[in-house]
Amino acid sequence: MYCGGDELNAIVCDFGSYRARMGFAGEDAARYVGPHGSMKADDTNGIMTPAGHVGSIEALEAALDEGYDRLGVEASGHHPVLWSESSFHNVLSGGGGKNERETLAEIFFEKYDVPAYFVSKAAVLTCFANGRSTGLVVEFGHGSTAAVPVVEGYVQSHNAIRQPMGGRVLNAFLLSRLKEKLPKQDPMPISSLLLHDIKETVCRVSETLFDEKANSTIPQMPYELPDGTQVAFGTERFCVAERYFQYDAAAASRVNNTVEEPSLFVPSMIGESAAKGDADTKKELLQNIIVTGGSSCFENMATRLEREVTAMMQPYKVKVIAAAPPERKLGPFLGGSILGSLGSFHEMWISKTEYAEHGASLVQKKCP
Ligand SMILES: Nc1ncnc2c1ncn2[C@@H]1O[C@H](COP(=O)(O)OP(=O)(O)OP(=O)(O)O)[C@@H](O)[C@H]1O
Ligand SMILES: [Mg+2]
Repeated sequence: MYCGGDELNAIVCDFGSYRARMGFAGEDAARYVGPHGSMKADDTNGIMTPAGHVGSIEALEAALDEGYDRLGVEASGHHPVLWSESSFHNVLSGGGGKNERETLAEIFFEKYDVPAYFVSKAAVLTCFANGRSTGLVVEFGHGSTAAVPVVEGYVQSHNAIRQPMGGRVLNAFLLSRLKEKLPKQDPMPISSLLLHDIKETVCRVSETLFDEKANSTIPQMPYELPDGTQVAFGTERFCVAERYFQYDAAAASRVNNTVEEPSLFVPSMIGESAAKGDADTKKELLQNIIVTGGSSCFENMATRLEREVTAMMQPYKVKVIAAAPPERKLGPFLGGSILGSLGSFHEMWISKTEYAEHGASLVQKKCP
């Protein structure tokens, strides 16, 4: 229990492997959006791993310091912190070593002297951001893609499914295709930032199953590289995002990342994860499929998903909910912004006094 008065001024953190976001609860945008993944060779920001773990404590603390600074916070000790964690944390934790959740609690209470702290699963926060406490959250992230059922505010972790193909793998695939279009002599080096731009402006989801051979003559879309080189994209406009829907053996071998090629595609992930629950829950989840994450912003994603899941799950009624793209990129932050500003949430926080009494392991008991 934390009694911080009416003005809580909590800070919400949603740190992903591409972007770290931090801002005040009650606000509709994160005031701090950290350096993007394109700065590093592995196309991650070096703070979080693609699997949603802290990759480097130093990088995490550097981002937090910068974030507090950007928020104009002089005394971090005046602001409770709500941390959004990977929806798979409980599933993945275990094994030796100190638990990451406890390490984070220690950092916030000891280094940043926060008066109160709480951890919520990203999928639960995304549900709240969409005005729901139950929903099947489909996270189209940078490091992975996941279908996570949330029922009455709790992740059904045993029914959640994840595969490692996300925006990062699509970048590697797009790069392999782009290289084939560049002049053999002195091609300009392709930065990750440029790849992101091409992917976000040129690529979209096809309305129906996309067969690259059958569509080899579709109109090309011109794109000018920063050095003036003109390239044209044809089937790449669709076959990049198509990898969420079907296996492409050539694509997988081309980027030599067969390990990262999913064996289960997004419509089936949704179907399987909903089907693991009881009949009533399945019905409710299928009517509340919430898409979120930067990679959900490919044009046509929600329509195609709804069509495929509907066909697959007959006779169930299927509804895909997709907020506007800027909100989809901020799902967990926006949910945390709502939760962190609720007066009734006071009882949930771990206060500094409780931390002093019980230690960091309290996070395992109080934060489901
Ligand atoms: N309009 C768009 N179309 C397609 N992809 C996009 C678009 N906008 C952003 N992306 C991609 O979304 C990814 C970033 O997604 P997001 O911000 O959800 O990741 P994150 O939260 O930092 O990472 P994590 O997956 O580790 O949680 C990047 O690969 C980026 O290129
Ligand atoms: Mg994320």
